[in-house]
Amino acid sequence: IRVLFATSEVFPLVKTGGLADVSASLPEALCRQGYDVNILLPGYPKALSAARDAGSRRQGRFSIGQYDVSLWRTRLPGTAVTLWLVDCPSLFQREGNPYQNDEGEDWWDNAHRYHLFARVGVMMALGQAGIRWVPDVVHCNDWQTGLIPAYLSHYRSRPATVFTVHNLAYQGLFSHETFRALGLPDSLWQFDQLEFHGQLSFIKGGLVFSDRVTTVSPSYADEIRRADHGYGLDGLLQHRSHALVGILNGIDTRLWNPENDEHLEFHYGQDHLKDKVQCQTRLRQQLGLEVDGAPLIGFVGRLVEQKGIDWLLEVIPPLLKRGCQFALLGSGEDSYQEALGELARAWPGQFSLTLGYDEALAHRITAGADLFVMPSRFEPCGLNQMYSLRYGTVPIVHAVGGLRDTVFDPEDCKSAEANGFCFREAEASALLHAIERALDLMGNRKAWRRLQENGMAGDYSWKKSARLYGELYQDILKEREQLAE
Ligand code: ADP
Ligand code: GLC
Repeated sequence: IRVLFATSEVFPLVKTGGLADVSASLPEALCRQGYDVNILLPGYPKALSAARDAGSRRQGRFSIGQYDVSLWRTRLPGTAVTLWLVDCPSLFQREGNPYQNDEGEDWWDNAHRYHLFARVGVMMALGQAGIRWVPDVVHCNDWQTGLIPAYLSHYRSRPATVFTVHNLAYQGLFSHETFRALGLPDSLWQFDQLEFHGQLSFIKGGLVFSDRVTTVSPSYADEIRRADHGYGLDGLLQHRSHALVGILNGIDTRLWNPENDEHLEFHYGQDHLKDKVQCQTRLRQQLGLEVDGAPLIGFVGRLVEQKGIDWLLEVIPPLLKRGCQFALLGSGEDSYQEALGELARAWPGQFSLTLGYDEALAHRITAGADLFVMPSRFEPCGLNQMYSLRYGTVPIVHAVGGLRDTVFDPEDCKSAEANGFCFREAEASALLHAIERALDLMGNRKAWRRLQENGMAGDYSWKKSARLYGELYQDILKEREQLAE
């Protein structure tokens, strides 16, 4: 089965969050299981220069409206997966964040950029892009690719379509004027198609028109059908319930392995967990944290409302007074950056904040911390809790979405299964209480070690979930064949 995997980010070429990790590791896992998966990505500068460095060439050239487009065929660095880049300099030749300028504002022409990207995806899907490889399935991800299934729905003979929701909060909403400017068919401007309360919704293209909608954990698949997590799309998702399924993300267990992590000076594993202490000592030195036996709490992530940073800000002062240390890494909204910055100034040696994006430090915090907090308001899947589990770093999470599906609290399950701490109520005091329970249990070395070992023993690889995606592809293809008969 040939699969075109359309995505707006892929690790290590361009990454703002977990979508990039998944867009690299899932296609790779599928390829290993015998699927012929090709990734389609906008030709951002770093991706194009990697392609040139690898000696890759242009393969197709065509015009779409006013835009001259060419396709580059290369490989995703470090893998055997084929990667197609949509080269359109006026839209994609921009450094930095793929969606925003240096001031943190969305690019004014994002609708045009991802509309063009979708048009190219459609041409490839229909075998009109001047290349021989034509997919059986187009697998789209998040709003940036939502118009692909919408366009393809107009063709009788087309590949099957799958749309994966990584985050329903980002929908790609634009004005009616933009809808007209893009030249989308008028027939699509209806409440059960692309129109959403007077706006153009890219994500609805994926949700309405795909053969299957998937999301990245079973719990999130339930949550988004309810008003409190549905962002106004819960009705539509209920309507599509028969076509909606939650498949838990996996992680890249080669990049995230405490036994040989290239970002760590010291390595450890389940049978020599004591060496984790060296990673902790090194992390403390690197971050200027006073070296002692205090519990070290880590956080890595985007500093946005989703991640519960306001709850974190409430619980940090009492925990600092209790003697805890913190290692935080992230970037995002100014107000959070400033509030955290103040804490860092007030508590040097005990509270470390690194603003920005730092892959190596993310690995070092994951390895060096005792506890890893993820108080997300909602979390479609979340990867950091799985990284932490694998590194014997005990996660403390809000019991939502993929966090609920991967972290199990000793209060809710047998001690053979427990691997972290969960809180249910959506409030800071519940987070604080969960951290306090964790700190108490740290005093019991045997029980703590058990918790760490349970986490490290879990299987977070893509093996099972990639198989589920593969079966999904096969089911749709079979269905479509039967329909055609
Ligand atoms: P989301 O996609 O909502 O941001 P995930 O947990 O799925 O959340 O994935 C986030 C990914 O981005 C993880 O790989 C995490 O380590 C990484 N990440 C987030 N912020 C940073 C940062 N400031 N520096 C390094 N890596 C980061
Ligand atoms: C999104 C979600 C996150 C998920 C990631 C990869 O960014 O916020 O929970 O892990 O996509 O699917």
